[in-house]
Amino acid sequence: EGVFTYDPGFVSTAACESAITYIDGNQGVLLHRGYPINQLAENSDFLEVCYLLLNGELPTDAQLEEYKATIKNHSMLHDQMRNFFNGFRRDAHPMAIMCGVVGALSAFYHDQMDITNPKQREITGHRLIAKMPTIAAWCYKYSVGQPFMYPRNDLSYAENFLYMMFGTPCEEYKPNPILAKAMDKIFILHADHEQNASTSTVRLAGSTGANPYACIASGIAALWGPAHGGANEAVLDMLAEIGDESEIERFIEKAKDKNDPFRLMGFGHRVYKNFDPRAKVMRETAHEVLKELGMEDDPQLKIAQRLEQIALEDDYFVERKLYPNVDFYSGIILKAIGIPTSMFTVIFALSRTIGWFSHWNEMNSGANRIGRPRQLYTGHTERDYPKK
Ligand code: CMC
Repeated sequence: EGVFTYDPGFVSTAACESAITYIDGNQGVLLHRGYPINQLAENSDFLEVCYLLLNGELPTDAQLEEYKATIKNHSMLHDQMRNFFNGFRRDAHPMAIMCGVVGALSAFYHDQMDITNPKQREITGHRLIAKMPTIAAWCYKYSVGQPFMYPRNDLSYAENFLYMMFGTPCEEYKPNPILAKAMDKIFILHADHEQNASTSTVRLAGSTGANPYACIASGIAALWGPAHGGANEAVLDMLAEIGDESEIERFIEKAKDKNDPFRLMGFGHRVYKNFDPRAKVMRETAHEVLKELGMEDDPQLKIAQRLEQIALEDDYFVERKLYPNVDFYSGIILKAIGIPTSMFTVIFALSRTIGWFSHWNEMNSGANRIGRPRQLYTGHTERDYPKK
């Protein structure tokens, strides 16, 4: 009693066993249920990856068809949820809305919530995966004052998301297949990343037996910050601030200056001390998207490429093994598709929901003990309350 391992930031503490995702940070390897992330991004689609993460094996064609049909069945939100959206200020950040709305799902589904029952857990997973694109798109529609669009079940998961984002009742909207494919890749590349801050938050909240929608809302809150899911928004803000290639060197120097809090956003990772394998796929996808849209000369892409090149050759970044991470290029793709920066982290949350849910489900499928970290106490020793 009283002797603990002191590990601030959990750099060397394994808090659980898990069979979902494997990372070798030194080699830049990321496997989901054994499959390399680049192979999944190349050959699979997001819903197949969801099935894999959750169930441990790739589905057969029939299983995948059934899974996709089930997800489509659950894509609408309860109509009372509209009231919930309407309660927010019209300029609320979409992440603030998403945190609240996902937490509020627990009010709609609290009575069917026996977390020891695998069937009830399964349907919760279906609901979450199905409803997240609708919630995310409605967060956007609310912020721009356009009517909410209902999901269209004849479209793929990514197409439907783009439709609900950019469609209006006045005009037919046809999602561009290249942009939908890029969107799907962004979903896949963010789907899971073992015990990151938000997933650990979901596990910790879930370890108490709390309602799973509330647990996922806690993950959304943890994802929000610029050191985690907020980084892709921060990358775009940074590129805008740099503004011109001639300014890059100055910002690199700022990032290296220990008296300056500025960091190169989209660079560095707690686990990867090599190229983030997701960043490689993102970079290729960024080129495909900008080509499709005739935006190859996009000044921000040029700044990003030059920044990457300079940083990869600079001793400061080389010595600290700081490489571009997944968020370095994802923002450029999202911006080119027409998605505003305030929605970037919302899209990360949409994608990571399957990871959060798979970990919550894994934890509830076996022995689960409440998470309860200890501390090194640094406060006062015992003292008497002063006599008045
Ligand atoms: N720019 C400049 N210096 C950096 C950066 C950066 N982006 N990242 C780390 N360093 C330096 C840091 O100052 C420290 O230097 P020193 O040893 O001289 O004090 C050294 O590298 C190690 O950094 P750390 O802060 O101890 O590393 P960490 O594992 O605690 O933090 C990180 C990891 C991702 C929070 C950090 O690299 C960072 O702030 N990066 C920018 C934000 C970002 O892109 N986040 C997205 C992460 S990937 C998506 C996700 O998982 O959500």
